[in-house]
Amino acid sequence: MTSDTSTEPQLLGMLERALSAGCAASVRAAAKLGVADALGDTPATAEELAVAIGADPDALRRLLRSLTCHEVFAEDPDGRFVHTGLSLLLRTGTPDSVHHLVLWLTEPWSWELWGRLEEAVRTGKDVFVDLHGREFFDQLHAAWPQSAEVFDLAMTQASRQSAAAVAGVLPLSGARTVADIGGGQGFLLASLLERHPGVRGILFDRPDVVAGADARLREGGALAERARLVAGDCRETVPADADAYVFKNVLGMNDEDAVVVLRNVVATARGGARVIIVENLVDDGPGQRFSTAMDLRMLLTVGGRKHTRRGLLSLVERAGLVVTDVRPVDSYQHMIVATTPARPAR
Ligand SMILES: C[S@@+](CC[C@H](N)C(=O)[O-])C[C@H]1O[C@@H](n2cnc3c(N)ncnc32)[C@H](O)[C@@H]1O
Repeated sequence: MTSDTSTEPQLLGMLERALSAGCAASVRAAAKLGVADALGDTPATAEELAVAIGADPDALRRLLRSLTCHEVFAEDPDGRFVHTGLSLLLRTGTPDSVHHLVLWLTEPWSWELWGRLEEAVRTGKDVFVDLHGREFFDQLHAAWPQSAEVFDLAMTQASRQSAAAVAGVLPLSGARTVADIGGGQGFLLASLLERHPGVRGILFDRPDVVAGADARLREGGALAERARLVAGDCRETVPADADAYVFKNVLGMNDEDAVVVLRNVVATARGGARVIIVENLVDDGPGQRFSTAMDLRMLLTVGGRKHTRRGLLSLVERAGLVVTDVRPVDSYQHMIVATTPARPAR
C-alpha cells in the first residue's frame, strides 16, 4: 500500500466501502443476539451484556466496538456501552422499532444474491430464478417460511413508520371503498379505515400474507365489518368494486408486470376510479443511498427496480391511466394520483 498521505483518506474510504458487508453483518448479529433489548438505560459492560444474551464477552466487545464506529451503540470513557439514536431502533416491541426490517434486509439468502450482482448488471436481469428455480415470492413462501414471516413483520414495521403520513394525505374524499393492492398485513388499510369511518376497505395480497392480516381487520376485529380480505395475484386480477386503489411499494416488480397490474385496474374498475401509487423514488428525496441500494436488491430478486419519477409516470401512462397529481408524502416518499379512463358508453 502507498503511504502517500494525500491518498490515504481515499484509500481507507474505498476499503471501508469494500468491507461494508461487515457493517451489515454486525447490525444483523446485534439484532439476532438481542443486544439492544438487553441494554437498558444504564451503561453496561460487554461482560454484563454477554451474560444477559449468552455470548462470548470478548467477541461481543469486538462486535460492539465495530458497531460504535457506525454510531450504533456508543462506548463511554469507562468502557461501558450505551444506546445511541440508531441502536434504540434495534429494540423489539417499540413503536419505532426497525428490528424486523434490519433482519429482512440481511436475511441469509440475500448474501448469495449480492455475490451475483456483476452478472445481473451484465444481463440486466434478476439472478433469482436461475439460482432457485422459481420466482422470488414463490420461493420465499414455499422454501423460507421463517423469512416470509420476517418479511411480513418488516413490512408492517415500515408501514407503521409511515402510515400516519400516508393516511393523512391520501385523497379519499368521496370514496366508498378503498382497495390496498399488495397491502401486506393491512396496517395502512387499518389506519385508513380508522381515519375514514365511512369508508370500506379491501386488503389484497398473496394468500399467505392475507392469512396473517392485522387483527383489527380479521373476524372479531374492530374494523372487520368494513374490511374484506382477498387473496390473489394482482398480475392476474384485482377486485372490481373499489373507487380507490392504493399501491404502496408494490410496483417495484419488473416493469412489464407493473404495467399488467395497472392495466388490470383499468380493465376491472369503473371509469374514474382513483389509483394512488406511493413509492420512494430513486432520483428524489434525501434517502438516495438507501433507495439506490434497494434498487439493486430489487434487480437481483425480482428483476425490478426503484423507479425514477419519469420512469414511474411512464408506466402509469402506458397502462392507460390519466395522471392527475404528483406530490411528496413525506421527506422520502412520493404519491402519484391517477384515474381510470371513462368507460365508453354501451
Ligand atoms: C414491499 S411489500 C409492500 C407492502 C405494503 N404495501 C407496504 O407498503 O408496507 C410488497 C407487497 O406486495 C405483495 N405482492 C407482491 N407480488 C404480488 C402479487 N403478484 N400479487 C399480490 N400481492 C403481491 C407482497 O406479498 C407484499 O406484501
